[in-house]
Amino acid sequence: MHTLNIIGAGRVGQTLARLWHAHSVFQIGAVCNRSIGSAQAAVDFIQAGTAFDVDALSLLPAADVWLLACPDDQLQACCTDLSKHGAFNQDSIVFHCSGALTAHEVLQSAKNCGAQIASAHPIKSFANPDSAVQGFTGTFCGTEGDAAALAVLESAFAAIGGHCFTIKPESKTLYHAASVMACNYLVALQEVSIQAFTQAGVAREQAMAILQPIVSDTVNNVFSMGTQAALTGPIARGDAAVVEKQVAALKGWRMDYAQMYQQLGQVTLTLAEPCGISDQTARRLADILGRED
Ligand SMILES: NC(=O)c1ccc[n+]([C@@H]2O[C@H](COP(=O)([O-])OP(=O)(O)OC[C@H]3O[C@@H](n4cnc5c(N)ncnc54)[C@H](OP(=O)(O)O)[C@@H]3O)[C@@H](O)[C@H]2O)c1
Repeated sequence: MHTLNIIGAGRVGQTLARLWHAHSVFQIGAVCNRSIGSAQAAVDFIQAGTAFDVDALSLLPAADVWLLACPDDQLQACCTDLSKHGAFNQDSIVFHCSGALTAHEVLQSAKNCGAQIASAHPIKSFANPDSAVQGFTGTFCGTEGDAAALAVLESAFAAIGGHCFTIKPESKTLYHAASVMACNYLVALQEVSIQAFTQAGVAREQAMAILQPIVSDTVNNVFSMGTQAALTGPIARGDAAVVEKQVAALKGWRMDYAQMYQQLGQVTLTLAEPCGISDQTARRLADILGRED
């Protein structure tokens, strides 16, 4: 069995290490955090490993695989420190779990020591390690990096129920932005909608209650029918008069939200166009939404 050292056993590091230990995928070696108390708590959660703090890097045992799961802005310095302490050689696999960074951006010092490097980004919110352990099965993981590292990691993630897929390193930022738009901006869009409700005289709590069933239904429809079939509303119906009034109302309230409505409306129109809107209506809608054809 490969040995695994974890540097930065927080929410992600603890979750993965506990699952890999429980499934006998890796033998857990060092568990290293900034403070020894935090590292020991992580060892207790993982139910394996030996706690170290960052001042003890020179004392860490050797390992086949190294997971660097400290915060993104610490990854490069952490890897450099480990490289200086002779942690890596040509048999080492070193990887991180960031969605925003490639392996080469922050693990180059390990590569310079001969290590195989990779990143494996689980597309999941690890708010709490206990629930993340329970709910990890079925998590998709975007991977990129050296083939030898990916072969080991893909099999390790598969053993705990993960589904790995490879992405090109040069596309990693776009890949990460895709999830940001789908999840974070969905939240932001709900906030804009709630503000519009309150501006129209509907209390915030009532707006939440109104949105809950229609937003849930819409999201379910997207995943059961696809985006085009899930689309409803004035643009999908080709009701240009309603759209024009809404743009004017939003402009009278908040120009930034009016522009956002128009931008997203242009995407909506592109989806709706093949579904029966006449050319004349599509041109009028494009004009109202500020789309330059
Ligand atoms: N959280 C998520 O939902 C999520 C999802 C996918 C990917 N990720 C990625 O997973 C990685 C870890 O995120 P996280 O949310 O698990 O972080 P986290 O919960 O904040 O934990 C970070 C851990 O790193 C330790 N640490 C900080 N600086 C360190 C250093 N210089 N050397 C050694 N250890 C250090 C901290 O130790 P102390 O406890 O002693 O402070 C802490 O235990 C990041 O790359 C993140 O982008 C996170």
